[in-house]
Amino acid sequence: MLKPFQSFIFGLVALTSAAYAQQPQGGADRWIHILDPQAQSTQNMQTLLWVAGIFSFLVLVVTGGALWWVVQKFKTRPGEKPTKPGAANEPAQFHGNNTLEVALIGVPVLIVSVLCVFTALALAKINQKPANVVQTVQVNGWQFWWDFEYEGQGVRNSNELVIPVGLPVELKVSGKDVIHSFGVANLGGRRDALPGQTNKLIITAEKAGIYYGQCFELCGASHANMLFRVIALPKAQYDDWLSKAKAYQAPKPTDPELARGAEVFLANCAGCHAIKGVANGAPSFPDLSYFGSHATYAAGIFRNVENNSELSKEKGDRAIKFNGEERLVTLEDWIRNSAQVKPGSLMPAFDGSTYKVKNADTGKWEEKSYVKLSDADIQAVAKYLHSHKLEGFDFKSMAEFNTENKDQ
Ligand code: CUA
Repeated sequence: MLKPFQSFIFGLVALTSAAYAQQPQGGADRWIHILDPQAQSTQNMQTLLWVAGIFSFLVLVVTGGALWWVVQKFKTRPGEKPTKPGAANEPAQFHGNNTLEVALIGVPVLIVSVLCVFTALALAKINQKPANVVQTVQVNGWQFWWDFEYEGQGVRNSNELVIPVGLPVELKVSGKDVIHSFGVANLGGRRDALPGQTNKLIITAEKAGIYYGQCFELCGASHANMLFRVIALPKAQYDDWLSKAKAYQAPKPTDPELARGAEVFLANCAGCHAIKGVANGAPSFPDLSYFGSHATYAAGIFRNVENNSELSKEKGDRAIKFNGEERLVTLEDWIRNSAQVKPGSLMPAFDGSTYKVKNADTGKWEEKSYVKLSDADIQAVAKYLHSHKLEGFDFKSMAEFNTENKDQ
């Protein structure tokens, strides 16, 4: 059994390590940090935090100081006899002090009222919908990934939200299966992603770069693996991205390996995943139309690299044990058996492994096998996914943007 003090220290260590475990993989993105505001709204929140912090500190000093003074003044000193009621050395006893009572009620009421006014002012600023909202994006949380649908544009981009610098974007946040919570700390606030409800959030990035976001509501086995990135581009570049994304039609592959990849994709993946010009997929699975331009995959947990030799532990790429041997996870591993590298992933495996399913008629459990794709086929699909790029947009290289902040 742990003693209370040990449990406390143990809990503190567990909390701290959990906070660090949630730092981004891939190294160079801006870390989630409440004291690193990158937007007007987070700046407002930070000002409020400082005001409340200073008030709290003053209260601590005044009440703690008074307590200390009283204890020092009235304690029984060595050699002195303990005070007893009615004894000659008992301090004067009195009851009721109007001035003191008014002060003890009035001062806290005043402090809370001032904080209340500051909070109301900050909230009014944060929740105000600016007139110059450039784009509304429907944000859908799914187990365990995020979908971003650009209203009126016919553009879906999964797990990476591209926005223009300096202009407000309105997000309509919703959950599609269980309760999630959308949060990109440096750009402002969080919104619960609830099934059947839409919660609005306005975000504005003041600087270009990649911002790290994640799910903040325990939603299942891979809750901690439900990340996303917000990519803020200068307005002209954003417009270019949006128009290219809108117009994107997957080219017909000429390279034989890509052609093989396309065949395998159509036979095994296209029922769920959309690629513009190839397959419509379904809304409940990530859109892979611009996969080759993405900075990450598998809801932000793996860095997207075209060549597996670019993976490195130093850059924060994840390693896991495969048959007892630890190595860095590749896109091929993800395709082969996604649940092996991301617990709870719903994508079927393509390694011929077996799973159990209950027969609705007989009520008995039956063993079934996943499709088995050859290594060559899996490699061809990976290469095919990488071939879908928006010309001029390679967010893999944009991870360099915020390196100056990586140690914060
Ligand atoms: Cu979704 Cu936690």
